[in-house]
Amino acid sequence: MRILFLGDIVGKPGRHGVRDLLPEWKTRYAPDVVIANGENAAGGVGITPDIANELFRYGIEIITLGNHVWGKKEIYPALESDPRLLRPANYAPGVPGKGWGMFQVLDKPLAVMALAGRVFMEPADCPFRVFDALRPEIETPFLFVDFHGEATSEKMAFSLHVDGRASAVIGTHTHTQTADERILPGGTAFLSDVGMCGPYDSVIGMDPDIIVPRFLTQLPSKFEVAKSDPVVCGVLLDLDRQTGRALSIERLQHRP
Ligand SMILES: [Fe+2]
Ligand SMILES: [Fe+2]
Repeated sequence: MRILFLGDIVGKPGRHGVRDLLPEWKTRYAPDVVIANGENAAGGVGITPDIANELFRYGIEIITLGNHVWGKKEIYPALESDPRLLRPANYAPGVPGKGWGMFQVLDKPLAVMALAGRVFMEPADCPFRVFDALRPEIETPFLFVDFHGEATSEKMAFSLHVDGRASAVIGTHTHTQTADERILPGGTAFLSDVGMCGPYDSVIGMDPDIIVPRFLTQLPSKFEVAKSDPVVCGVLLDLDRQTGRALSIERLQHRP
């Protein structure tokens, strides 16, 4: 089973980067399913139903979300009704949406789970223990986890904690692709961060003319998505069709 996962899609440049490049990547890599993190798709913060549908039209089939999931309130009902939208599983009980879902890919059930880290992030329940609690319910060896976190150490520790119990743990949130892809001894593919689909000349997707002065002055300012051409970052995973163990992991990055 071949999975293509795209990192955080940031604003219009990120959406258009996916629109323009995904058909080519689909032809070249022939993924069986395309998943993307869409937490920054609407103006850099959150996602709306219209924008989620736009991403589905471009060929994305499942959208994971991260700490910006609550950025646009219009998405709340869709988080409940659309099984293709997943917010972090380790948020408080009773909040809108769900943290994992089951999808038919080829003739196999693929589970996809989103989790949020807790290091240098907003408070959330323990992603390690939430994974442990949920894993027995998920009756498939094919499990893709988007671990949305700031700290490399937390993502790496998590991947070792779940090695052999997930097919892949791929990090998101930093918007910067790391070069540490590997397959762990138990068969879990890991990458600390897949990177973003968003404006290349930017500070992790945001306008440098706003962000650089913000660092210099520490005055509050409203973030705006930068307007440059996009970088598109992803990862290609091959899973054994019987065991769900990762056979290969390859980073993809297309710069303008
Ligand atoms: Fe993000
Ligand atoms: Fe994030």
